[in-house]
Amino acid sequence: MERTFLMIKPEGVERGLIGEIIGRFERRGFKIVALKLTKMTRECAERQYEEHRGKEFFNDLVSYISSAPVVMFVIEGEDAIATAREMAGATDPKQAKPGTIRADYGIDVQRNVIHASDSKESAYREIALHFGVLS
Ligand code: RTP
Ligand code: MG
Repeated sequence: MERTFLMIKPEGVERGLIGEIIGRFERRGFKIVALKLTKMTRECAERQYEEHRGKEFFNDLVSYISSAPVVMFVIEGEDAIATAREMAGATDPKQAKPGTIRADYGIDVQRNVIHASDSKESAYREIALHFGVLS
């Protein structure tokens, strides 16, 4: 069993896609073990995306992600990390495979609807950052 961190980005919340996106993970058999709607501070967004600090898109990314509410949730199940990345699809929605969340709902590389942790280390770090210790 594995856990991973997911976040519906501002345009997903604004467009009313919360139920649709969480439902995909439930129907795939994952258990939701934590869930919240929150507006991140700039500092929190910088910590979430700290691996990208210094890149040319970092400031825009942090401003965007802290501009409006997001929905954060944690799923649990077999191969949760890799499966969630596969269900999210490629970073650029134009490159994402049909049937992935980003292919179906993504607008552009910044407004790509969902974040999914990319490794065991990121999942552990991001769950702790946003939810603290989960039972
Ligand atoms: P995420 O972390 O949000 O799940 O996305 P990812 O792993 O597929 O992509 P990553 O390389 O970690 O990039 C994080 C987010 O930064 C924005 N981005 N903008 N303008 C650009 O060229 C650019 N590149 C990345 C995207 O919102 C991406 O999801
Ligand atoms: Mg990433």
